[in-house]
Amino acid sequence: MKVLLLGSGGREHALAWKIAQSQLLTTLFIAPGNAGTRQHGTNIDLNPEDFEAVGTFVLENKIQLVVVGPEKPLVGGIVDYFQAHPALESVEIIGPSKAGAMLEGSKDFAKAFMLRHNIPTASYQTFCTGESEKGKMFLKTLSPPYVLKADGLAAGKGVIITSNLGEAQNILTEMLDREMFGDAGKKVVIEEFLDGIELSVFVLTDGKNYLILPEAKDYKRVGEGNTGPNTGGMGSVSPVPFANPELMGKIEERIIKPTISGLFEEGIDYKGFIFFGLINVGGNPLVIEYNCRMGDPESEAVIPRIKTDLLKLFQAIKKQRLNEHQIELNPNYSASVFLVSGGYPDSYEKGKAITGLENQGESILFHAGTDFRGNTVLTSGGRVMAITSMDETLAGALKKSYRLAEKIDFEKKYYRKDIGNDLMV
Ligand code: AMP
Ligand code: GLY
Repeated sequence: MKVLLLGSGGREHALAWKIAQSQLLTTLFIAPGNAGTRQHGTNIDLNPEDFEAVGTFVLENKIQLVVVGPEKPLVGGIVDYFQAHPALESVEIIGPSKAGAMLEGSKDFAKAFMLRHNIPTASYQTFCTGESEKGKMFLKTLSPPYVLKADGLAAGKGVIITSNLGEAQNILTEMLDREMFGDAGKKVVIEEFLDGIELSVFVLTDGKNYLILPEAKDYKRVGEGNTGPNTGGMGSVSPVPFANPELMGKIEERIIKPTISGLFEEGIDYKGFIFFGLINVGGNPLVIEYNCRMGDPESEAVIPRIKTDLLKLFQAIKKQRLNEHQIELNPNYSASVFLVSGGYPDSYEKGKAITGLENQGESILFHAGTDFRGNTVLTSGGRVMAITSMDETLAGALKKSYRLAEKIDFEKKYYRKDIGNDLMV
């Protein structure tokens, strides 16, 4: 099978690493990829958001399967673009239609969908441009902290939580009337604050059937003890000890099943990953957000635990026969620690030579912000690479990743030293 994978982060390196192990693979292209993905296929200088260029490449290279890593092309309608072009129609594409991607592309759509299908989530109201006075009054009726969410994609920055009513009201006005988040903030969801522990759960679906992938916990804040600004993710672990069979059973019954059947009943074409951002409040799981793709940095811990051939599952998706497959998992713990550029998520320097990569041993290195010059791998982003290790215990997996985190080096390297600590009992 000739495969094109779209994206360039750690998630895509993890997907490329896994797809490259498939018996069904003949050729793998990654567009645009990074210095890590080229170990598993050919990087192609293509913008995943330029659908016409992607379509042309697919036709010229007789690609049979396209796997879409990031949300932007999905929310932009790449699946619909393929379906609307007769020459591309027969190419399988892993990812939801534009309507399905609305689960991530519009918080208001996602909330209304959950309400329609009785899926547990925080109570909310949505306000549009011109309704800031109404929204401010609504905020007054709530107790702090206040949670404000820009409706559209805002690169992970669209959620604001504050305990100060005045600040919440000002931010609402900034979003609705002064375009603080551009078009993404022209609608704002104000919702109830939920106090609990977060968990990321993933499924692969053919629109009718689904397989549950390993769950994970990610560490979003830059500083130890979950302090400092949010990042794209500083590390992740899988499995999550508190995600016991009882909790996972509730998640499947109350959240996964009604989501899949809701999409089906509404005639929404969805063939791909669904990421459930959940919060466990006193033993009851609620949805914080949906994403229409795999998580990053969760993929870097989750994908190495999947033993099943991903391309076989993708083939079954096309035939809508995922029900005939099971997913085989490695029961061991997987711990992924991100090395980032000092200063990230604010300003940081790029182009630093990375040394010590030869010490990899049995750990896996998933590149995110890397580039290369000759044989030298260079930093090219804030989140540079994830170090994933596996072991029978979480402590053992973490120890392996941290040992390597010391050996791999670049100027101003930084990493959190407390990934997974909260889960060790
Ligand atoms: P999101 O972009 O929707 O994932 O939100 C970013 C982060 O904000 C989440 O990972 C949570 O930590 C937090 N968050 C979002 N909604 C809520 C809520 N209703 N209650 C508490 N925390 C929330
Ligand atoms: N780990 C959060 C995300 O992928 O959006």
